Amino acid sequence: MKVSVTRKARFCAGHKYWRPDWTPVKNREVFGACANENGHGHNYTLEVTVTGEVDPTTGMVINLSDLDRLIHEHVLDRIDHRNLNVDVPELAGKIPTTEVLAGFIWDTLAPRLPVGRLEEIRVYEADDLWSSRRG
Ligand code: NI
Repeated sequence: MKVSVTRKARFCAGHKYWRPDWTPVKNREVFGACANENGHGHNYTLEVTVTGEVDPTTGMVINLSDLDRLIHEHVLDRIDHRNLNVDVPELAGKIPTTEVLAGFIWDTLAPRLPVGRLEEIRVYEADDLWSSRRG
């Protein structure tokens, strides 16, 4: 029987949506306030869901300290209180939307899980806006 477990974490980060190959007018048309010159920040919520068999010895799908360490070392330590446009090499040259962020976090965590499989990554930019990437 497979069970899913979800860990929630919070982080803050700044970003700006801007394509240098577009005119300022087109950037503002497409990205609106997200194209403001000096960027802006969000208080994000991340949800990481792992699915697998429950280990009868521990009662867990994945050891939560292992999961927390992965999330902190490979994701939060790299994006929390950062400027997503300039501080994360994997996002360089990309528009750091929640969609792109969810993909980056998926690609970072999926190959590193010691057990189970990554079921879903959700990145909330606000209560009323989030993106999810599923396996
Ligand atoms: Ni924004």
